[in-house]
Amino acid sequence: MRIEPAAALVGDVAVPGTKSISHRGLLFGAIAEGESEIRGVGWSGDLESSASALRSLGVDVAADGDSARIRGVGLRGLRAPDDPIDCGNAGTLIRLIAGILAGQDGTFVLTGDESLSSRPMERIADPLRQMGARVDTTDGHAPVTIEGGASLRPVSYELPVASAQVKSCVLLAGLYATDGPTVVVEHGSQTRDHTERLLAMMGARVTSSPRQAMVWPAERLEPLSLDVPGDFSSAAPLVVAATLLSGSELRIHGVNLNPTRTGLLDVLERMGARIAVFNRRTLAGEPAGDLEVRSADLTATSIGAGEVPSMIDELPLFALAAGMARGESRVEGAQELRAKESNRIESVTSSLKTLGIRASASHDGFGVRGIPTRPKGGGMASNGDHRLAMLGAVAGLVSREGVQLQDAEAVAISFPGFFDLLDSVTRR
Ligand code: S3P
Repeated sequence: MRIEPAAALVGDVAVPGTKSISHRGLLFGAIAEGESEIRGVGWSGDLESSASALRSLGVDVAADGDSARIRGVGLRGLRAPDDPIDCGNAGTLIRLIAGILAGQDGTFVLTGDESLSSRPMERIADPLRQMGARVDTTDGHAPVTIEGGASLRPVSYELPVASAQVKSCVLLAGLYATDGPTVVVEHGSQTRDHTERLLAMMGARVTSSPRQAMVWPAERLEPLSLDVPGDFSSAAPLVVAATLLSGSELRIHGVNLNPTRTGLLDVLERMGARIAVFNRRTLAGEPAGDLEVRSADLTATSIGAGEVPSMIDELPLFALAAGMARGESRVEGAQELRAKESNRIESVTSSLKTLGIRASASHDGFGVRGIPTRPKGGGMASNGDHRLAMLGAVAGLVSREGVQLQDAEAVAISFPGFFDLLDSVTRR
């Protein structure tokens, strides 16, 4: 796909529902007693993977426009399918469902596409084994086999990496523990807390703080009725593009503003961005609001481990913003980027270089030497990573000569309508 340079982004848009909340709405609805309704599901490749995984486990999941109805089978009602459960590209699905399956009777095999099969799975197998579950990985990766139904012990587990997926997996298994609370201690600063919020809404006994989350065994979960706010991670490419294109004035309505997700806003503001939040409200039990973004000149900044979890999926976009900011920016404490849909330390720095931006990789982050002018542009490949495809699109808009983007269709993993929505607000 060819992305031509743009003059500005102008207008009003809304982005699809938060992927992390949508996955959880489907998965948790499946083990509730009664029917859940999730409105504003961010239907996408990843959510289709969750819906079909649940169907293969005997759950009735009906999609109706951007809503989903899930007929819950109760905490222990999932049925082991004869075939492996294909989790596609979805890390959130494979890691969260593992915690639920540890509490079900039967043998379950979880597989995924090539990218998912290269991502680390011992990080969930290890705590589940500590709880007494039988879990096998394939050299640390998918396929992951779970023999569920053993009585699980509550644990106190210190996360070895900052990961909401691992935290959520352990908390979900904790619902099935024989007695006593399961504790997950964060690794540094707090990772996203969607799981804790939703389980509390469903009547589970859960506590959550920046330092740790705790869950008690549950008898039953109440069904959900949710209006999912727009995904901050899908709004982020628009926020960055509008900031970088002079003359932009863009409003993005109904965006999830959970503080464990919005690190990019704080960082961009520190760099000089002009982003206003208005109409603050609560959606799906989470803070939400409308964003108004105007273009601004940016100054370089540095990001350390403490800020990384709240902007983990936005670091590729930060790198581009840093490339057009005055001065040298650095990211440290972000080695988790190597374990995403692609090795994002390598894929981001090599993409920036092909655009004409000076960037260098380190073991746990990257450095970018910014120049407050449009980068030249060039060829970029997403290599199947949806966040890299969106980075390529924004890079094309802000470049002088445009970007030739290979594998642009990877955006459909999280945001199938991304290019149409971008076109609708692009002024050339
Ligand atoms: C997610 C957690 C993060 C994030 C991913 C979604 C979630 O992954 O990168 O896109 O929904 O819990 P990690 O838990 O591996 O950091």
